[in-house]
Amino acid sequence: MSELETPHAGDDHSRDDDVVALLMRQHGDIRNLFDEVEATSGEERRDAFRRLVRLLAVHETAEEEVVHPFVRRSVAGGQEIVEDRLKEEREAKEMLATLDDMDPDGPDFLPKLIELRRDVQTHARAEERYEFIHIRRSTDVTDLAAMAKAIKAAEAMAPTRPHPGVESGAKNMALGPVAALMDRTKDTVRKAMGGS
Ligand SMILES: [Fe+2]
Ligand SMILES: [Fe+2]
Repeated sequence: MSELETPHAGDDHSRDDDVVALLMRQHGDIRNLFDEVEATSGEERRDAFRRLVRLLAVHETAEEEVVHPFVRRSVAGGQEIVEDRLKEEREAKEMLATLDDMDPDGPDFLPKLIELRRDVQTHARAEERYEFIHIRRSTDVTDLAAMAKAIKAAEAMAPTRPHPGVESGAKNMALGPVAALMDRTKDTVRKAMGGS
């Protein structure tokens, strides 16, 4: 086990109904997982990278279902804001797919990972600045509670900690299944939001 302990997204139980706090914590978890991938090697790195891919997939899918639609309908200039974020998310997913095909211990992996990390951080900052701030100001309590519930439901699908002794399990999480994970996340989020 790495001495780097990535806190689990569910560790902080005090702010479960605050959708912005939940999303900000996930941004923090993503940052920590990047640290963990960078600091490790071999099987440990593979495992940390799989958890990073999973959390990114679940987090971005949940945002696409919950955050962006809210901003589109409730914020002046929301269309443009959301288009910019979706473009960043698409680019990140492509880079993630490239990384997934690479040998995590090969010489090109880390530079590419650092590139992705920089883009993901820029993207997260833009969300916090142009989207989350509007969610915080929203007074529709029912809407906020539904969004928080959906983010929590999605979060449960992406463990941030390693599972001791299940190294082979990491192999089952290649990007093919990640596409399926995104579909499942979409279903989970829609159900939690009260849709069909
Ligand atoms: Fe995002
Ligand atoms: Fe985000």
